[in-house]
Amino acid sequence: MTVYGIGLGPGDADLVTVKGKRLLESVDVVYSPGRLSRTVALNHVPEERIGDLDFPMTRDPDELRRAWKEAAAEVAERAASDDIAFVTLGDPNVYSTFGHLRRTLDAFHPEIELEVVPGVSAMTAFATALGVEIESGTGLALREAANGAVPTGPDRMILFKVTDAPATYEGLTEAGYDVKFGRRLFMEQGETLVTSDPEELEERDYYTLAYAERAGLERDVATAEFDGVDSEGSV
Ligand SMILES: C[S@@+](CC[C@H](N)C(=O)[O-])C[C@H]1O[C@@H](n2cnc3c(N)ncnc32)[C@H](O)[C@@H]1O
Repeated sequence: MTVYGIGLGPGDADLVTVKGKRLLESVDVVYSPGRLSRTVALNHVPEERIGDLDFPMTRDPDELRRAWKEAAAEVAERAASDDIAFVTLGDPNVYSTFGHLRRTLDAFHPEIELEVVPGVSAMTAFATALGVEIESGTGLALREAANGAVPTGPDRMILFKVTDAPATYEGLTEAGYDVKFGRRLFMEQGETLVTSDPEELEERDYYTLAYAERAGLERDVATAEFDGVDSEGSV
């Protein structure tokens, strides 16, 4: 049988892919690593098909490895007779807990067949939510900014895990970036917030990202960008 890693998208149940939804409806059990992903999954799966796996609230690597080994053993045992889904918010291969499960299954249960169904990642959904266009020909880097971290360098960056928005804002603006934050984008749980004011984000919320763009970036004139169009539409 197969273990499916299924991306649920950023949190809006309508942003699950058609393939993801079909599989959620057909597998025997759906495991979720947290409350939010479980809530999204429950839009597509009845509660009795949601499975429980224990994840300790710890950063101790040995304890975490032990917990993943136990979780993988349970998943592998169930996968002997059933199809299984393990869901994650966004995409399963972008900064995701699914990576821990996949590595542990690969190491201890290599016989298990795995298939990944990509999801709409916050990495792409942010552009629509924040009204940003990443024009063709430009670069974009993905970074982590947990605990006030301020990675800098590239002209345009998305920063995940913004847990101290005021500190990240201060560091980025000092380094010459314009910054926009997005919290709980396309999420049905909690309030969506898009702002450039870090004071609105003083309360910590893990589901926060930032888009940073070097101030005063030179831009080539984009295709289909029209200044001074007259009433007949000629440029
Ligand atoms: C562990 S990563 C998981 C990323 C996920 N696998 C994905 O592809 O979007 C969690 C971080 O992603 C960002 N994130 C995920 N979903 C988000 C959302 N709906 N709104 C804002 N940020 C989000 C936040 O920065 C959060 O700290």
